[in-house]
Amino acid sequence: MSSAPIQDIDLATFSFDPYPVLDLLRSNFPITYVPQLKATLFSKHRDIFICEKNIEIFSSVQPNGLMTKLMGQNMMRKDGATHMAERKAIFPTVSPKTVKNFWRDQFVDKTNEILSHLRHKKELEIVSEFSTQVSAEALKLITGLSEMKWMEMDRVSQGMIDGCSNYISDPVIAKDCDDCTRSIDLHIDAQLKNPKLHNAPSLLSSQLEAGMSIQAIKANIKLAISGGQNEPRDAIAGTIGTLLENRSQLEMIISGTKTWLQAFEEYARWMSPIGMSPRRIAKKFIYKNVEFYENDMIFFMFGSANRDEAIFENPDYFDISRDNGPSIAFGAGPHFCAGSWISKTLIAEVALPLFFSHFPNVYLKKPIEFQGWAFRGPKEVILENRNK
Ligand code: HEM
Repeated sequence: MSSAPIQDIDLATFSFDPYPVLDLLRSNFPITYVPQLKATLFSKHRDIFICEKNIEIFSSVQPNGLMTKLMGQNMMRKDGATHMAERKAIFPTVSPKTVKNFWRDQFVDKTNEILSHLRHKKELEIVSEFSTQVSAEALKLITGLSEMKWMEMDRVSQGMIDGCSNYISDPVIAKDCDDCTRSIDLHIDAQLKNPKLHNAPSLLSSQLEAGMSIQAIKANIKLAISGGQNEPRDAIAGTIGTLLENRSQLEMIISGTKTWLQAFEEYARWMSPIGMSPRRIAKKFIYKNVEFYENDMIFFMFGSANRDEAIFENPDYFDISRDNGPSIAFGAGPHFCAGSWISKTLIAEVALPLFFSHFPNVYLKKPIEFQGWAFRGPKEVILENRNK
């Protein structure tokens, strides 16, 4: 355990709304040990920005962590050259060029198809009826698991997320997580026999072409599913709802003064879909007079860094006009989100503009409630459709 000052956190309050606690940590205890999380939290932008790049100390390798045990050792749990080799292997799937030339049109077709089924509804709950399906259909394409149903994609993603945060070893959660990883393995095994497998630059085909082991390929596909489903789901529904709560900003986009990308990037800063990324201390180290010991757990609090008043003016305000260059919603080091181009295209070029072109006359039925701190998103976003 590090020598950082100790600060207790009520986890239920933290999950309901982490921002007041994070404000307090940034002001008074920017590096603090939280007993309820058994981890030392870094909450200032500058500290995270510097330390995340120091992989000799702040290691991603966590052999005893739940993610490694349940999903296998994926690239998010590797450092240095081994990590970079896997990033290189998946580049043909996630590169800006592939996203533009290969995935984008398919995202458009799928999203239009989903929206066409919703057109006549007078009331919509867009997390369950729109963004979950858009996100899952995109993941089916990207992973190469084309035969998986979109609802199964969402189920296995959530099951793994729950499994990886099952610190109290709840047997029901553990069994469900096992079932989810087994479902993914079965879908991968079936796709390996598909003669059309290499017709698309999916994660499965790119990694096979790079000569990676099946074990490593499966672990990275599970990572993409656990990390690539709920973030776009929450960001799509959250950005739509937040723009409807701030209609003057929506008008700026409709009139062409601002862009959908500015809205998405501001949402990702303001309500960071991934609020935290963990690291393990690799060897004894002192930073800002705090002593860290081998195997101490560190949480880089991205959600807090993105509300750091030293970096952003009026950080609690949603303002699509601000400069979001310093935002670290996608990370700040070598593990910078591999799906960032996919996300920007799917969300800002496809889901948001298509949604508002199909539904130009929608209104929020009630204020949005958000939940979670490690992963944060809207519980539900209920809209009234006043289209004739
Ligand atoms: C709103 C959308 C998304 C957000 C906000 C987001 C955010 C993040 C964050 C914060 C990290 C960890 C960065 C770090 O620790 O430095 C990450 C890693 C990662 N993300 Fe995303 N993500 C999004 C969508 C996606 C999608 C759609 C995919 C699927 C292809 C994806 C795949 C990954 C992978 C593979 C990693 C690990 C990268 C590595 O270890 O090098 N993400 N993401």
